[in-house]
Amino acid sequence: MDMIGLYPTWYEPGIGSGWVIGIIATIHVLFSHVSVGAALFFAWLATVAYQQNKPELLEFIKKYGLFLLIFSYVLGSITGPGIWYSTTVGSPRGISALIHSFVWKWATEWVFFVIEVIGIYLIVYLVGRVDQRTHLRIAYIFGLSSLTTMLIIVGILSFMMWPGKEAWFVDGGYLNGFYGPNTFAQLAMRFAFMFSMTAVVGGIVAAGMKDYALKAYITRRLAILGIVATLAGAAMFQWYLSTLPEHAALIMENRLPAWFNTGILSILAGTLAYFVVTLIQPRVLVTSLASVMTVAIVVFGLWPEEVARESIRKPYVAGQYIYSNQVISRDVPGMGIKSEIPVLEEHGFLKTMAFLPDSQRTVTPQNAHEVGRSLAITACSNCHSLSETGIRPMKNYFGGNTDVAMIRSYLLGALATGNTLYMPKIPLKPDEAEALAVYLASLSDPTVAERYAREKSAVAAVAPAAVKE
Ligand code: HEC
Repeated sequence: MDMIGLYPTWYEPGIGSGWVIGIIATIHVLFSHVSVGAALFFAWLATVAYQQNKPELLEFIKKYGLFLLIFSYVLGSITGPGIWYSTTVGSPRGISALIHSFVWKWATEWVFFVIEVIGIYLIVYLVGRVDQRTHLRIAYIFGLSSLTTMLIIVGILSFMMWPGKEAWFVDGGYLNGFYGPNTFAQLAMRFAFMFSMTAVVGGIVAAGMKDYALKAYITRRLAILGIVATLAGAAMFQWYLSTLPEHAALIMENRLPAWFNTGILSILAGTLAYFVVTLIQPRVLVTSLASVMTVAIVVFGLWPEEVARESIRKPYVAGQYIYSNQVISRDVPGMGIKSEIPVLEEHGFLKTMAFLPDSQRTVTPQNAHEVGRSLAITACSNCHSLSETGIRPMKNYFGGNTDVAMIRSYLLGALATGNTLYMPKIPLKPDEAEALAVYLASLSDPTVAERYAREKSAVAAVAPAAVKE
């Protein structure tokens, strides 16, 4: 019997594993983008400081750099591995796909990241301790290596949405996989918005500066940077949208919450207004305002952006061949990978999943609910939380339906044939669909499971064959 390589699912009942990953990733986006943006801003500021003989600007580099050491480098270095841990358990085959395709790219990224980490220490602690040329050189090396980490990661992120060329599926190879249609648009968009974030977070530091002339100078530079970056980012966002797969664009139109566009526009307008006000009157910039603005960007800008990116990639988690529920859905000869759909169609999940207790390999009236739960966790919980809270709670999608036969026929219809835009093809065997239906019905009415077991056992006692099939 062919087994398929599904790992045990990490099921987080409160919010779902997807949101755990999402929350960590959102925070990480802020830290990582600010660190790259600030590195480049420092390189510019150091140049101005030395060329125009304004040593006081170095004071700001030192303060912002020290702030970043905690803010970006400590917290960023916690959330970075946090993404690795959470995705490794939440989406083991998604992460495996990326590692198998890009292990050397990641190794390269880490080399630059190490330079970046050393760079931030050097640039902060060597202000005034080494000659100008050396300090400036460190600033440039720091800035460029930060940027390089971003170039590599964005390549990997855009592969997740869409491998660069169709040829990748056949031939594999980094050049085919990496430079997808949306790689450069995404890079441009992130490059712009990272300066908006750098300017907002920099405001927290600038607000605390004692010397008003210096505070005003820095605040105005940050505001100009912020205005240009935010406008450019909005334009690049349009470009990015135009490079999405057709499928993603459809989901974007039909499936994102109604508030999504309004939300994004409001946060853009709010950010611009904030920069314009601090440009005209740097005095209004106080630590609390900049902090509130930072939180607003995370909550109203980055979180929806991460959620949208996750949604429009559906039903895949990576490379348009691994579904979010970890099933491989197409042949990728270039990587020696075979679709698992035919095996599932022939044998179903219960017979082919390695990590399933043997007591669940055959459906009986007594174990139907339990088997159904295992199937829901395996096939659905990556995208639907099975509790009341979290990502797309399953219960809401069945509108309180407790009719096992009806749910079963939905499962064998739309889902088994892959006839939804945003859901994987989930080929369930009839007895699997029945078990899953019992579990799904019990989400709305917990007595279903017990009633089902009782009624079916009574039938089985009369005609044992009736339960099968
Ligand atoms: C790859 C992610 C993913 C997986 C896995 C997944 N779903 Fe969905 N499902 C979605 C999305 C996205 C929607 C649309 C949600 C929306 O627009 O509000 C959806 C909608 C639904 C709906 C509403 C009907 C419809 O067509 O809009 C039902 C019912 C449903 N899912 C059941 C399931 C069941 C049962 C499973 C497991 C056997 C499952 N889903 C697995 C992503 C997924």
